[in-house]
Amino acid sequence: MSGWINQVFCEDALTGLARIPDGSVDLILTDPPYNLGKDYGNASDRQSVDAYLAWTEQWIDAALPKLKPNGSLYIFLTWRFSPEIFVMLKKRMAMMNEIIWDRRVPSMGGSVRSFSSVHDTIGFFVNRKDYYFDLDAVRIPYDAATKKARSRSIFVGAKWLEVGYNPKDLWSVSRLHREHPERADHPTQKPLEIIERMVKASCPPGGVVLDPFMGSGTTALAARRCGRNFVGFELNSEYCAIIDSRLAGPAPEPVRKAAKRKAASPLATANQE
Ligand SMILES: C[S@@+](CC[C@H](N)C(=O)[O-])C[C@H]1O[C@@H](n2cnc3c(N)ncnc32)[C@H](O)[C@@H]1O
Repeated sequence: MSGWINQVFCEDALTGLARIPDGSVDLILTDPPYNLGKDYGNASDRQSVDAYLAWTEQWIDAALPKLKPNGSLYIFLTWRFSPEIFVMLKKRMAMMNEIIWDRRVPSMGGSVRSFSSVHDTIGFFVNRKDYYFDLDAVRIPYDAATKKARSRSIFVGAKWLEVGYNPKDLWSVSRLHREHPERADHPTQKPLEIIERMVKASCPPGGVVLDPFMGSGTTALAARRCGRNFVGFELNSEYCAIIDSRLAGPAPEPVRKAAKRKAASPLATANQE
C-alpha cells in the first residue's frame, strides 16, 4: 500500500478523497457533522437544510467508490436528518441495521415541550450479500450470574453460553464526559468502545478503515488498536494536532475480544439477554 495509508490528512474530505484508489477500503466508518450548529471552527455544522443534504450527497458519492465490493459503512446521525440520509444511502447500498446508541445521559431537567433526546442513530449499510462480518469478534460475555441461572442440564455444553451473545442494536455506552480518561478537546468525540466494535465486526484484520471526518481521530486510534489500517481527513488544524498526539501515544494493547473480557461492560449489563 502506498502514501495514503495510515494517514489523516488535514484537509477537506471532498478534495482529499481523490487520494484514495477506488475499491481499496474495507469499511467506511464516519461521524459527519450533524448540522446541529456545533462549533468545529468551521461552518460545516451550520448549513441550510438544503445545502447540508446536498453536501451530504456529494461526500457520500465521493466516498462510496472507495469501498471494496464486500465493504460496509457505518454512519452516526441523529433523528433530525437520519430519515433523509438513510433514504439517500438505501438508494446506493443495502441497509442492515439502525443501531441506537443510548448515550446514558443522566436525567437533569431538559426539554419541557418534547422528550429529551438522549441517543444517536447509527446506520449500518453493506455493498452486497457476501459482506465481511465477524460476529464472534464482538460477542458479549454472559456474566457469572446469568451463566449460573442457565446451569440446568438443558444448557450444559451450550456453545452460545460460552461464546457470548450478539450485541443487538441497542448500545448503551456512556458518552465521554469532561472527566473521562479518554476525553480529548473535541466537542463530539465518540467512545473507543463503540468504534472498536464496528471495526472488529466489519473490517478484517489488516484491512483499511476510512473516516472522512476524523474529529479527534477516534476511528484512526481504534483501527490501530485493533490491528487495522486507517485513512481519513479533518478540516480543523487544532483537531489535526489532537489526532497526531493521540496517535503518537504508546500503541495501546488491542482490546481483547469482547467474548473473552472478564468484567461485564456497562453495555453488557444493559443489554443482557
Ligand atoms: C462529529 S465530528 C467527528 C468526531 C469524531 N468521530 C471523534 O470521535 O472525535 C465531525 C468532524 O468533521 C470535521 N469536518 C467538517 N467538515 C469537514 C470536511 N469537509 N472535511 C473534513 N473534515 C470536516 C469537523 O471539523 C469535525 O471535527
